[in-house]
Parts: sequence; structure tokens; C-alpha cells
Amino acid sequence: MGVMRTKSIEQSIRETDEPEFQLKKKLTALDLTVFGIGVIIGAGIFTLTGRAAADYAGPSIAISFVLAAVCCGLAALCYAEFASTVPVSGSAYTFSYASLGELVAWIIGWDLLLELMLGASVVAQGWSQYATLFLEKLSITVPAAVAPGSHFDLPAFVLVAVLTALIAIGIKESLRVNLVLVAVKLFIVLFVIIAGISFVNSANYSPFIPPAQAGKATEGLAAPLIQVLFGLEPTTYGVLGIVSGASIVFFAYIGFDVVATTAEEAKNPQRDLPIGIIASLVICTVLYVATTLVITGMVPYDKIDPEAALAAAFESVGKPGYATIIAAGAVAGLMTVVMTLIIGATRVTFAMSRDWLLPRGLGRTNPRTGTPVRLTLIIGTAVALIASLTPIGKLEEMVNIGTLSAFALVSLAVPVLRSRRPDLERAFRVPFSPVLPVLAALISLYLMVNLSVETWLRFIIWMALGFVIYFTYGVRRSRMAVGATGEQEPSTTSSTTT
Ligand code: ALA
Repeated sequence: MGVMRTKSIEQSIRETDEPEFQLKKKLTALDLTVFGIGVIIGAGIFTLTGRAAADYAGPSIAISFVLAAVCCGLAALCYAEFASTVPVSGSAYTFSYASLGELVAWIIGWDLLLELMLGASVVAQGWSQYATLFLEKLSITVPAAVAPGSHFDLPAFVLVAVLTALIAIGIKESLRVNLVLVAVKLFIVLFVIIAGISFVNSANYSPFIPPAQAGKATEGLAAPLIQVLFGLEPTTYGVLGIVSGASIVFFAYIGFDVVATTAEEAKNPQRDLPIGIIASLVICTVLYVATTLVITGMVPYDKIDPEAALAAAFESVGKPGYATIIAAGAVAGLMTVVMTLIIGATRVTFAMSRDWLLPRGLGRTNPRTGTPVRLTLIIGTAVALIASLTPIGKLEEMVNIGTLSAFALVSLAVPVLRSRRPDLERAFRVPFSPVLPVLAALISLYLMVNLSVETWLRFIIWMALGFVIYFTYGVRRSRMAVGATGEQEPSTTSSTTT
């Protein structure tokens, strides 16, 4: 079986010209940067910062953010090189199809789906919590039976339904909405930094790295894999606390990789994609570090609110009105993250269906909107159901493990593609290859083994499902397989034309 078969870059690019699978090329470097910021700044900074500072790193959570940014920065360089070489929709999935072969490409695509669909669901749940809180401040109460945390989270469901409709109408239109919401979000983050500076008490910075102490015992399935494998004692704070903090706040950076999924919709992908990926990551890193320094300066680390650190910090210094503004900003901010993650998921499945690893009829673009409407509706429905029906707080680590595994594989693919196709034009090149790509993969793996045993088990089940689908469907139906044997395309899928 041809599980190692690769798809030539030229073929990938040629297929983007097929009319039935064509996306509109409208996006500029600025659009892509806004798109990146829109998906990166979200539940991570608004919710996880508090928990990570209080439980793991204290004021040195700012260093955790820098560490997580280094991991993402190395991966971002690899994504940028690929995106500038293979400017085709589908991001890491497409890159690896060109370098590591079909099976690895499928695995990465499957990982990305985990990241994007569950990420959208998690952030929709977070949005629902903030929206409910905000509505309460306006004296509107969401009935308990359909509130976040109940059996059916109605606000999360409605949010995903509305966003799915927007995405189906057209990417440029949805990006225009995105632009407004990103502006609101940036304003709120800058507001926290500027308004908060005057409340910073430098005494709260000492000790900057709180001394290590025995951590809350994490046992059984909730223990990090590395702890179980090596029989380590769980500790909190100190240098290890900074690393644990980094593996948690990593979630806050997820999303820059999604920029690469829109490659085909960029006007000048070779130049603009590296700019979009790297610029959005750098801007977010600066904002995150500044925000965490302000928050840990305003509130002693052991008193930081683990749920809503940003709003609570202003309440604690007697500014509840500011807290309301921040809650409103979170509502706007989280909305863009959900939208962008759904767009990313549709683009990855679009690329898979164009390769016939998923039924090809699913991926056809609608001639009027220029978007894959059918796939958008399927993904939107799945995200709406996951977000509204699964308990809050269960899926975050799954998002991290899906993303990190894709990072590791993409990083390793960079030197592989260089040696297989040295001739290709690379508008952007990772410096010090193969050292930096290998380092990126190792750091990603290190963060993965810091995730819980439970998460690993769920991840293994997800991957097993992916293997079953590939070996019962994709391996034979793949465009590469059919092309190689000269067979006709599968009749069951060709009938699903739009
Ligand atoms: N980075 C995104 C967030 O923080 C996923 O919500």
C-alpha cells in the first residue's frame, strides 16, 4: 500500500486551479496578521493566566509566557518556511503530504482537526461563561436549564451557529467582522496594561520566582505522563513551576498556525504568510508578557483569581466598572477565536477532501460564495454540539496535545523536504536547519509529556479512530491511489456534486 506516497508540490499547486475547488485570493499580509491575532488572543490570556500564576509560577508566569512563545516561535519559523514553499490550503497537512507521505499527512490532518474543532468548542464554552456574566451585569439572566455548565449550553450553541453562517457567506466578509472584533480585543488588552500600570505594587514582584514547594498531589490518570514514567515528585513554583506554567499557557498561543490554513486565499502567499504568522505571534507575545506583569504586580500571586484574573484584578483595586469593560471585551475577543478556529477546521478538511482522503463531494466550493459551504456546515454543526453538550474544562488538554503533535511533525518535515526537494523556491527559510527544527520538535514533545495520562489515553483513542478511517477509506480512495492505478474516481462520492 502506498502509505508513504508523497504528493508533489507542483501537483498540489496545480490542483488549486481546478474551478470546482477554487478559493478566492483576497487576503493581504495585514489581513493575515489580523486573522492571526484574532485567533491567538482568547481564552488563554483571559482565563488561564490567573490559574497558571496562582498554582504554578507566581509572578514568574511572565517567564512561562516567554518560554511558551519560544516553543511556538520555533514552530512558527517551520510553518512559515512551509507556507512560503507550499502555498496551498490545509496548512501542516498539505506540507507533510509533500514531504513525509500520505499516512503522516493524514495523521497531522487528524491532529489539526482535534486542535481546531475542540479548540473552537472550548473557547465557545468560555465565551458562553463570559457572556452570561456580562448579561447578568445588565440584569438579564440566562435560564439555569440552558446556562453554561448545564446539560445544554444554549449561548455556546447559538454563538457557533451564527458564526458558521457568517463563515459560509464568505471569508472576506467574515474577516471584516473579525477586524472589528480584533480591534475591540486589542483595545481591552491595552486597556488592562495601561490602566493597570498605576496600580502595580512592586512588592508583589518579590519573590519573582516563588521557592519550589511540594505540589498538590496529582495522581492516577490526572498525573502528567512524565511524572508517571519517571516517578517524579510533583512540585509547584520554582523553576519547574515556570515550565509547568509554560505547558499550560501554551494554549494562549494556539492559533498562529491557523494562518497557514488560509494560504490559498492570500494574494501573495510566499511573502505574506511568513509575515502574518510571525507578526501575529510577536505582537501577542509582547502583549501577553506586559499583561501578566501588570496583573501579578496588581495582585499578590497567591490572591490572583484563577477564573477571571483580569477583571478580578480591577475589582480588587476598587474599579468594578473597569471589570465590566473587560468582561465585555472578553465576549468580543473570544468570538473571533471561535470563528477563526472553525475557518481553520474547514480549510483542513477541504484540503483532505480535495485529495479524496475524505469524500470529495464534501469539499466543493460554492460558486457564489467561493467557500466550501457544505464542509462549513458540517464542521459548524459538530462544534456546536460538542460545545453545548460536553462538560466545561474537559477538552483543553486535548487541544494542546493535538497542536503539539502537529508542531513536532511539521518541524521534522522541514529538513526532510529540504533534502528531498532542494530545488524548490523558498521565500522564507528557517535559520540553522536542521538544528532549529529538531529543537522545535523536542520542545513540543517535552510539553506533550507534561500533559496528563488521561489526555494521552484520549489522544490515543482519537488517533486509533483516524487510523481506522484511513485504512478503511483513504488509503484506497485517495486521489494519489486512484491516479496511480488509473481507476475511475469512486462513484459513491462523485454523485455528490453541488
Ligand atoms: N489561543 C487561543 C486562546 O487563547 C486558542 O483562546
